[in-house]
Amino acid sequence: MPLLFTRCFFMTKEMYEKLTLPRHIGIIMDGNGRWAKQRGLERSEGHKAGANTFRRICDYGAELGIECMTFYAFSTENWKRPVKEVEAIMNLFRDYLNEAHDREDENESKGLRIRYVGEREGLPQDIISLINTLEEGSADKKTTVNIAVNYGGRNEILHSVRKIAAQVEAGELKAEDIELKNIEDNLFTAGLPDPDLIIRPSGEYRLSNFLIWQAAYSEFWFSDILWPDFTEDDLDNAIIEYCKRNRRFGGV
Ligand code: IPE
Ligand code: IPE
Ligand code: MG
Repeated sequence: MPLLFTRCFFMTKEMYEKLTLPRHIGIIMDGNGRWAKQRGLERSEGHKAGANTFRRICDYGAELGIECMTFYAFSTENWKRPVKEVEAIMNLFRDYLNEAHDREDENESKGLRIRYVGEREGLPQDIISLINTLEEGSADKKTTVNIAVNYGGRNEILHSVRKIAAQVEAGELKAEDIELKNIEDNLFTAGLPDPDLIIRPSGEYRLSNFLIWQAAYSEFWFSDILWPDFTEDDLDNAIIEYCKRNRRFGGV
């Protein structure tokens, strides 16, 4: 019996069968700092707790059979933060990448494929190396997990435009032949479906430069929960709410 169905006591089998689960869920993991402040802890403690929530929700999404999940962990704008905080976040990212390496077999059995999305330039060299080897090691899995670190939607579009411009310069493509697909094919998320559902906890109602191209027709789910407190039930609630939405994509 599917997990989401067994966890939702109110759902009949007929209701469940009618659900179309989101293929791609984007999550803005926000509220770590406020979570720590509420407890009189350093902000880095909030990030540590948030990283553990990420591990839990990532596994749960895979159990539900979600095809793709993108977790926003560090934006191109987050470099503005104090060096100590940035270092703490990079250390957590490094720890996670090392762990993913060590647990390759476990991830394999969970059907997880870990991918990086973002701007490699600017990241510490050892992290770039870890990202590269990780991607080689985990292709063709049932759930793709994108980790967005040093990611910015505007930066991603800029990258895409530069690649297309290079093709035009090389005479491989004519300017009048550039189509939406060319832009999409050169985004970090090339080949993945657009996010059907974007979740933002922490009481903020904005995208903060997350998947701005891909979110053109996404459904949004906002909540006051701070990311370290986010649970499997919250993901269930977001998905169930998503399933009730009427998506029209401009049609009638
Ligand atoms: C999200 O939590 C993590 C990052 C942006 C790196 P925050 O650190 O933004 O937490 P708040 O918003 O200050 O509570
Ligand atoms: C968005 O959160 C980025 C991540 C969660 C990684 P921020 O905390 O940076 O966003 P703003 O500054 O509130 O818009
Ligand atoms: Mg924040």
